[in-house]
Amino acid sequence: MIRTMKRIAEWCGLSWARFDTALGLLMEASRQRRSWIRRLSLDTPLVPVTAIISFVLWAHLGSHLPIFRSQVHFERGWEQFRAAYRINDFGEDGYFVRAVQNGYNVFNTTPRYAWRFTRKTSVDRISACASCHTPEDMAYGFVNSDRFDARIGRRVSFEERIMRCFAEPMDGFVPTLYDPVVRDLRIFARAVAYHLQLSEGATGAENRPFLRPK
Ligand code: HEC
Repeated sequence: MIRTMKRIAEWCGLSWARFDTALGLLMEASRQRRSWIRRLSLDTPLVPVTAIISFVLWAHLGSHLPIFRSQVHFERGWEQFRAAYRINDFGEDGYFVRAVQNGYNVFNTTPRYAWRFTRKTSVDRISACASCHTPEDMAYGFVNSDRFDARIGRRVSFEERIMRCFAEPMDGFVPTLYDPVVRDLRIFARAVAYHLQLSEGATGAENRPFLRPK
């Protein structure tokens, strides 16, 4: 080992004594640095606490990443929808209004806001709930849900109706009952049902002549 060191010293053009001193200084410096790092990271909670605070500040103020934001993205027509369906009755802003807005986004632009449950093939012409339904359909579906369905042979919840639509007409993938997509579509339907002042079981036959029995 010493012999190798001496050879290195020769290559560097230094006398062995000088090389030895330089090596000693270097090792001392690295030892000191290591103990400094160890002191900072283990003996004081300063480093983890600073790291957590910086991350939180960055996530909230600096990152601009959608995943760290609670605001919902504005889609075309939201302000008009909000005014027309009196969403402001639920407040200017808040969890419910944001859920309605997210439900609105999912309903109108399903492949973007519920992309995990839709297929991305060019043959998908009908790709959003809004291609087949109106917000009113959702509201009537909502107040008529949780009923016995003779075709299926059991009670079907509103959430299951949504899940079925992902599976059958949309030929996509079924979200779980607890998925925010399903939750917010339900809240969207609730807000529209409130606006229409629908009571449980309202069929809307008076306003929707095509539903009237012939
Ligand atoms: C390709 C057309 C199509 C698309 C797209 C579609 N649905 Fe449907 N939906 C239907 C049909 C058809 C029915 C009636 C099915 C039945 O009665 O068995 C239905 C029924 C429903 C019902 C029950 C309505 C009621 O009166 O009970 C709900 C709720 C519903 N869909 C929600 C959705 C949601 C949410 C989406 C988007 C994720 C969606 N649908 C996408 C065709 C579609």
